[in-house]
Amino acid sequence: MLSAEKIQSNWDRYISEINSCFSNKRTDILLPFLDKYKERLMMMPAAARNWHHSAFAGGYVDHVLRVFDCSNHLFRIWRTMGGDISTYTVEEMHFAALFHDLGKMGQQEGEYYQPNDSQWHIDKLGQVYKFNTDIPAMKIPERSLFLLQEMGVKVTQNEFITIKIHDGLYDDSNKFYFMSGQKETRLRTHLPLLMHQADHMAAQIEFELWDNASNPKSTSKPANASKGDKTLRTAKKINTKNNPNLTNATLDVIDSFFKD
Ligand SMILES: [Fe+2]
Repeated sequence: MLSAEKIQSNWDRYISEINSCFSNKRTDILLPFLDKYKERLMMMPAAARNWHHSAFAGGYVDHVLRVFDCSNHLFRIWRTMGGDISTYTVEEMHFAALFHDLGKMGQQEGEYYQPNDSQWHIDKLGQVYKFNTDIPAMKIPERSLFLLQEMGVKVTQNEFITIKIHDGLYDDSNKFYFMSGQKETRLRTHLPLLMHQADHMAAQIEFELWDNASNPKSTSKPANASKGDKTLRTAKKINTKNNPNLTNATLDVIDSFFKD
């Protein structure tokens, strides 16, 4: 689904973002680890089923970069709408975005996703990859955190909680965090919500881009700022005419998300 050039350019950008987002203290550990497993990480999918999202070679890095981009856009929205962005750092947001799904690689000694040798499962269920049952079962977010501690990267409390519960209420065990019955146990920051939104958005966009393995619609590039600008400004002209409730002031706020 992705060309060799796209897989390579995604990897180059992934490493570049890591270099620019984090201090040497972290990159000195992260970069050798990523280099050791470079081929595996470059080629691994983001999911096992072709109707899920990015279940093809290079899908993992493509997905993680899309979550990174979505999180940057969502950060601007939370900030513009009055969210308290003082409760976390942009580095924490970027770290969670770039490593929330690291556990999809499996253990260091065993890949999680393996090409499916059952044509029936591929044809009937879309299971283009199968799970490696030789490695212990572990939830993806927990394996991400396990691998980070195994390589010796310190994770902040915000990063830990955000990575752990980024699946939101798709995982029942996250109810403790998202459906708190008491004021004291409410999340102290919106970062986990932002990351869940970014991940959900990215996965849905990937499904829409590649909803049929034989019908690729795009080169995987997310809708970028300039395209968004154009679309919104066109919408603004039309909608202010037809919808008096959609004020210019409201549309100016929406436009501003895409300007910085
Ligand atoms: Fe994800």
